[in-house]
Amino acid sequence: MDVFKKTDKFIMSTYKRFPVFFTKGEGVYLFDDKNNRYLDFLAGIAVNILGHSHKVITEAIEKQSKKLIHVSNLYYIKEQADLACLLVENSCSDKVFFSNSGAEANEAAIKLARLYGKKDRYKIITMKNSFHGRTITTLSATGQTKYQKGFEPMTPGFSYAQFNDFEDLKKQIDDETCAVIVEFIQGEGGINTANPQYISDTYKLCKEKCILFIADEIQTGMGRTGKLFAYEHYGVEPDIITMAKALGGGLPIGATLAKEEIAQAFTYGTHGSTFGGSPFVSYVAFNVLKYVLEESLAQKAEEKGDYLLKNLKNITKNKKDIAGTDGFGLIVGLHTKSGEYANEIVLKALENKILLGKAGESSIRFEPPLIIEKEHIDTVLEFLDKNL
Ligand SMILES: Cc1ncc(COP(=O)(O)O)c(C=O)c1O
Repeated sequence: MDVFKKTDKFIMSTYKRFPVFFTKGEGVYLFDDKNNRYLDFLAGIAVNILGHSHKVITEAIEKQSKKLIHVSNLYYIKEQADLACLLVENSCSDKVFFSNSGAEANEAAIKLARLYGKKDRYKIITMKNSFHGRTITTLSATGQTKYQKGFEPMTPGFSYAQFNDFEDLKKQIDDETCAVIVEFIQGEGGINTANPQYISDTYKLCKEKCILFIADEIQTGMGRTGKLFAYEHYGVEPDIITMAKALGGGLPIGATLAKEEIAQAFTYGTHGSTFGGSPFVSYVAFNVLKYVLEESLAQKAEEKGDYLLKNLKNITKNKKDIAGTDGFGLIVGLHTKSGEYANEIVLKALENKILLGKAGESSIRFEPPLIIEKEHIDTVLEFLDKNL
């Protein structure tokens, strides 16, 4: 039985997959079973920031896998402590809780916000079109009913404000509100950038009313936007930050970062994870983060992103099916006028051995590894110029 038939027979059908499977990856390229080479401009949905088979990752995996993989959080874990320390030194947070995915990182943030808010304050406002995960509670936080359908009842206490509409947000806040969750660039929602004034007004209001400002940096973190964290572009200091995706360079890890006073709400027994922050994944993530910092990959992402966005704007300005561009750094979106059109382009790109993704209803997203070079961007631009 071939891989396609075996997948259809034995794996639950939650994904619509492209008819291809990869057998190896090198740098910004993936290779299929027939050794065709694909330019990876999606990076496993903002995960593989160092591309594929990067020495930093393979060496860390090899070294740590021979030493210690898992021990449980019943013991002190040096690699976990080192990673937490590096995250804290490079963010506005003081303490970290480790888990295994984005949904879990957000779940921990929601639990922490509710504990901090005590029983009187439990409501959380998120944005329409946001995406925060697939567990029942992170789905409840996700401002898109299409993902919630069939799973009701949702966890109570969530309401959704129009993204970039401060008045709408203000209307929803009451004495029971404990937190607001924001993505600075909505990823799954279609690459929509938060307006600086909106963020600044929201942050100020949160401070005034002692409401926690939670930044979901699961897709935007680890240098993708041109800074290590997207919040740095906005002059705010989130009370809680969630991370996952790129943090492990391809290995599963989630992290919930918080300021000291808030972190204190998590006391013995209030939360936990069997695998969270294992020596193995922590050591790899530590080395990925160290490399991102040492090599100024965020700054380079900004330069490369500027080049991509500027040229994307140029080649698409007179195309009738294009509605605009959005994003910054290496999280860029091309808004098209229809979902079918976006699908068509993504498929055409695949035929041309370029991996792109669709986001939201009708956007095409570009989230390559941060190690791409100008020549790789040019390949994608040439493809788009010819095919849009
Ligand atoms: C902003 C954001 N938050 C949360 C998640 C959920 O992460 P995971 O799929 O690792 O649970 C995602 C995944 O796409 C995301 O983009």
